[in-house]
Amino acid sequence: MKEPSHPLPPGSLGLPLIGETIQFLLDSNFGNKREKQYGSIYKTNILGRKTVFMTGAEANKFILSSHMDYFSWGKGWPDNFKELLGRSLFLQDGEEHKRNRKLLMPAFHGQALANYVNTMEQIITKYLQKWKTLKNLTWFPEMKQMTFEIASVLLLGSSPGDKTELLSRWFTELTNGLFAILPIRASWSKYGKALAARDRLLEYLEQEIEKRIRISNPEQDALGLMLQTRDEDGGRLSREEIKVQALLMLFAGHETTTSMLTFLCMALGQHPDILARARAEQQELGISGGLTIEKLKQMTYLEQILKEVERLYPPVGGGFRGVVKPFVFNGYYVPKDWIISYRINSSHQDSNIFTNPQKFDPDRFSAERAEHKKMEYSLVGFGGGPRFCLGYAFAQMEMKIFASVLLRNYTWEILPNQNLTPEPIPTLHPRSGLKVKFASSIV
Ligand code: HEM
Repeated sequence: MKEPSHPLPPGSLGLPLIGETIQFLLDSNFGNKREKQYGSIYKTNILGRKTVFMTGAEANKFILSSHMDYFSWGKGWPDNFKELLGRSLFLQDGEEHKRNRKLLMPAFHGQALANYVNTMEQIITKYLQKWKTLKNLTWFPEMKQMTFEIASVLLLGSSPGDKTELLSRWFTELTNGLFAILPIRASWSKYGKALAARDRLLEYLEQEIEKRIRISNPEQDALGLMLQTRDEDGGRLSREEIKVQALLMLFAGHETTTSMLTFLCMALGQHPDILARARAEQQELGISGGLTIEKLKQMTYLEQILKEVERLYPPVGGGFRGVVKPFVFNGYYVPKDWIISYRINSSHQDSNIFTNPQKFDPDRFSAERAEHKKMEYSLVGFGGGPRFCLGYAFAQMEMKIFASVLLRNYTWEILPNQNLTPEPIPTLHPRSGLKVKFASSIV
């Protein structure tokens, strides 16, 4: 593209160097305020990079599908992510990404998922029983422990209970480093600790992979499946590749699921009529014994509720990309090497698509209303297009199993005097963490 004949998007690049980083990290209304002032496309400068925020189904389609070759995932992430998460799927583009996504797919679909049901149900049941004995609890951090245990058992190959606490500590240190503003490499610094934690996690994965290679029929967890999968030319993921991909899955998978589960419980607790319908659906299914994929598929009202949680409380506020080809969108020019972000949270507030968008209304996803089908890419809580969330089915299954066991056996009450305002960073969570009184419904 020659000299731009179109203006840059409106907006402010803020102060020299730091731009508007502080406001972005600290103000949960950063996006709303600017959208009100400038409209659905605007520029800013965050994390040291000139960035354009774009909202709405059309923008989502442009970025996620029709013009996806104008953008790079790898270039969209800050340097901390690149170093700490290694050459994993998030940072790959083009053929390299396509090949690896294909090789990872079998661990997250079909038979593999069916094999995960029992383990998920056992871990979830254990946590629900623990919460019953606690009586009063703050749900967000508890939920995080549970989803971490599920992910570390199924994705890192640990045994339930075994080493979970240690792995969780290393993992927290690693994620703290992702958001360290100054990447100082010292043993006392956040970033230095994150690098050390990453090395420990990779070392742990090395040992787990070694165990699976030695036995002829490795366990059917994700790690075992990643080792066995071959592409059509007999190609496979190397040991180094499997280690970084497994770590990425843990990163991509457990905090996001924690966020959605917490808001699911909050929304159900605030809407007794919806809760009653969700419980009735579970009773009608006549579940006895363990859950199965077939039973999970029949939970259609629960699916509507989960979609509504995804819409109103999307764990990830938006996706970032590096611009590799300059482009014009809605009359504005965006130069090469800038960053763009498609906005998930604000796209879900479009009143041309979603009636009364502030309202928690699972029926908007009923077969009759299906509001999200009015326009492609209007519901993008799991991304969209060829790079749609790889763990979608895994997360859906985990959330349905959790909700099913919870709805059939427990009650909870949201405690008064707490601040439930959603905070966006690192993943969306109620400011107070959601304090509840928890009990068994079976007397
Ligand atoms: C409620 C839970 C989850 C939510 C809300 C969620 C959300 C997302 C979103 C929004 C994207 C696209 C980001 C972008 O376009 O920039 C994405 C991609 C991805 N997610 Fe998830 N995710 C969840 C669970 C999981 C789980 C459980 C896993 C793995 C076990 C996972 C693995 C991935 C991977 C690998 C990608 C990148 C796919 C690719 O580049 O081809 N996610 N997810």
